[in-house]
Amino acid sequence: MTPSAPTARRSNTLSSSLGLGEKLFASSDERKLAKAIDSGLAEVEAGLLEQMSFTDDLADVTSRYLLDAGGKRIRPVLTLLTAQLGSGNNKSVILAAEAIEITHLASLYHDDVMDEAQVRRGVPSAQTVWGNSVAILTGDLLFARASKIISSLGERAISIQAETFERLCLGQLHETIGPRPGDDPIQHYLQVLADKTGSLIATAGRVGVLFSDAPQEYIEPVVQFGEKIGVAFQLIDDVIDLAPQVDVTGKTPGTDLRAGVATLPLLYLRRLAETDRDAAALLKRIDDDITTAFYADGDSDSAELTAAIAELRDHEVTRQTLEDAHRWAGDAIAALAPLPDGPVKMALTRFAGTIVDRSH
Ligand code: IPE
Ligand code: IPE
Ligand code: MG
Ligand code: MG
Repeated sequence: MTPSAPTARRSNTLSSSLGLGEKLFASSDERKLAKAIDSGLAEVEAGLLEQMSFTDDLADVTSRYLLDAGGKRIRPVLTLLTAQLGSGNNKSVILAAEAIEITHLASLYHDDVMDEAQVRRGVPSAQTVWGNSVAILTGDLLFARASKIISSLGERAISIQAETFERLCLGQLHETIGPRPGDDPIQHYLQVLADKTGSLIATAGRVGVLFSDAPQEYIEPVVQFGEKIGVAFQLIDDVIDLAPQVDVTGKTPGTDLRAGVATLPLLYLRRLAETDRDAAALLKRIDDDITTAFYADGDSDSAELTAAIAELRDHEVTRQTLEDAHRWAGDAIAALAPLPDGPVKMALTRFAGTIVDRSH
C-alpha cells in the first residue's frame, strides 16, 4: 500500500460517513477553512500510519489493523477545527490530533474485549482475530505511543492527557460495575457517557485551542461543547442500536441490549415500568428473552426478542432518548456562544448537527 492511499480513502470515509465535507463547509466563504481541515487531516493520517510502528512486525500489524479498517476521525477533525480559532495547523496541533486519535483507537481494542464485540469498523474485532491478550497488549502499546507523542508537547499536555485517560477508564469501570445502591440509574448512565466518551472529545477540542495559541477564554466553551456532544453522540448510538436493518458497521439490531448493556431507552423503560403496566410487560419480555438467550449459550436471535426489540424501537422511551440527544446537541451548540461568529463556530454547529443526524 502506498502511503497516500489511506489518506485518499479517509477523506472519502469522512465525507460519506458523517457528511462532514459537504455539511461543515456549505458556502464558498468557508473554503479556506475547509482546505485547512483537509490538509490537516491528510497530515494526521500520514502521521498515524507512521506512528503504528513498534520495531515489532506483529505489533505493527495488530495496531494498523483497526486504523486501516476505517473510523470517522471526528476527534482529529475537532482538534483541527478549534485550532482555526488561533493560528491554525502547526506541528503541535497535528501531533495532538494524532495522540487523541491513537488514545481513542487504543480504547477501542480494550472496549471490544470488555464488550465481547464481534465486529469493529466493519471488520472482525481484534480479539476475535488474535485473542484477548494480543488485543489488550495492542491497546496498551497504543496508549504508550499516545503518551510518548504527548510528552513532546509539554507538561500541560501531559496532565490533560492523564486526566482525560483517567476519566475514560473510570467511565468504563463505572459502566462495568453499574449503579450502586442509592444511585439514580439514569444519572449514573449519563455520567458514564460523559466520562467514557465526552472527556476525550472535549480534550480533542481543547488541545486545538491550546496549541494554536487561540485566546484561552475559548477553552471552556470548546470543552463544554465536546462534553455535551459526546453524550449526544452516545445517546444517538443507543437509538441506532435498535435500528431495524443490519447497518454498515455490521451490528444487528439490539446488539447492546442483547449483550445486557444498559442503554437509555431500556433505563427509561425500567423507570416507566414502575408505574405503567404495558411498560412492565414489555420489560419483562425483554428481560426474560435475554435471560433465555443467555442460557441458550449466547443464542440471542430468538423471534421473541427480535419482536420485543422492535416494540422498544417504536416506544415513546426511544423517542424520548432521541429528543434527549437533540437537547444535548442543542446545549453543546449553546455552549459555543462566547466564540466569535465566523466559519469555525458555524462548522462546529454543523458538526453537532451531523452527530445527531447520523444513522450509523
Ligand atoms: C466509537 O467512537 C466509540 C465511542 C467512544 C462511542 P466513534 O464512533 O468515533 O468510532 P470511529 O472512530 O468512527 O470508529
Ligand atoms: C466505547 O463505548 C467507549 C470507549 C471506547 C471509551 P461503547 O462500548 O458504548 O461503544 P461501541 O458501541 O463499542 O462503539
Ligand atoms: Mg463497545
Ligand atoms: Mg463499551
